[in-house]
Amino acid sequence: MMKMTLTSSGLILAALGGAAFAQEEPELVINGEIPITTRAEAPASVEGALPEVISGWEFRSPETQSLEEDDFENPGMIFVDDARAQFDTAMGPDDQACSSCHDTPEDLAGARAVYPKWDEEHGEVQTLEMQVNECLTERMSTDAWEYTSNDMTNMMALLASVSRGMPVNVAIDGPAQSTWEQGKDIYYTRYGQLELACANCHEDNYGNMLRADHLSQGQINGFPAYRLKNAQLNSVHDRFKGCIRDTRAETFEPGSPEFIALELYVASRGNGLSVEGPSVRN
Ligand code: HEC
Ligand code: HEC
Repeated sequence: MMKMTLTSSGLILAALGGAAFAQEEPELVINGEIPITTRAEAPASVEGALPEVISGWEFRSPETQSLEEDDFENPGMIFVDDARAQFDTAMGPDDQACSSCHDTPEDLAGARAVYPKWDEEHGEVQTLEMQVNECLTERMSTDAWEYTSNDMTNMMALLASVSRGMPVNVAIDGPAQSTWEQGKDIYYTRYGQLELACANCHEDNYGNMLRADHLSQGQINGFPAYRLKNAQLNSVHDRFKGCIRDTRAETFEPGSPEFIALELYVASRGNGLSVEGPSVRN
């Protein structure tokens, strides 16, 4: 096994001599009926930076990969069921449920693929979490959910699950462009004692091993992700937070303008991959 140093920080990366991932391209079909695009042509957002874009699924072991092929095996689907119950639960002073207006979760198919997205009314880029909180506070007159609370992350899993197989297609031009550029800046900024940017790991070194981990491109098409490591669903912003913390840096808060911008940028790096959440990761 060849070893190389990532940076002066002393983090050791090992290239997998002829990694399994480069040899054969496994195919993901969920429940035998939802084909997932786990490898796509590089979208405009990563032109020159990546030759193609690849879902994190391809970097996991065959055992972990197979858990995502069947909803009965995917531990993340339990939380989708919880969210389905929540979707029909009346809340707030007017006793309204999500289903009072949206009928079924399937009516919201396609939404996951295009968020974060510019919201004209509020004059800002909105994540899907912000849109749900807008429904809760402005349309149901009830309390917002905490950004990475179980209720919210479960709902994200439900909204992702009904969009599975659809191509991620986040808009980065027009009014969203300046937020996208802010996210891009963050992606290439070196953080922490280790002085590492997202790009140092997920752009320069995907396919290599970082300690016991097979580094992916850090795509978010599979979020929320059920991680075997912590046995729970993990939201996008919690994942960002964990990665920045690993560089021993102070981090931004979930729901912060910085993470919203970063999410838009990272989502756009996956344009063309399928919505895959809730995914299973280690
Ligand atoms: C009183 C009616 C009402 C209720 C109740 C409601 N919504 Fe909405 N929702 C809307 C309207 C109207 C829109 C579209 C306008 C907008 O962007 O706000 C919308 C938009 C959305 C979208 C974005 C759809 C898209 O394609 O961009 C999502 C996701 C969503 N709602 C989820 C929920 C969830 C989850 C709940 C329950 C927690 C909920 N909504 C409750 C009225 C409602
Ligand atoms: C020191 C290297 C390192 C840095 C820097 C780093 N990450 Fe990660 N990241 C990892 C490792 C290791 C994993 C777990 C294996 C994998 O999926 O790559 C991971 C996983 C992820 C995942 C989950 C991918 C999936 O499919 O489940 C996302 C998303 C992610 N990182 C985003 C980021 C972002 C955004 C930044 C910058 C704020 C960042 N990472 C910085 C090492 C890093």
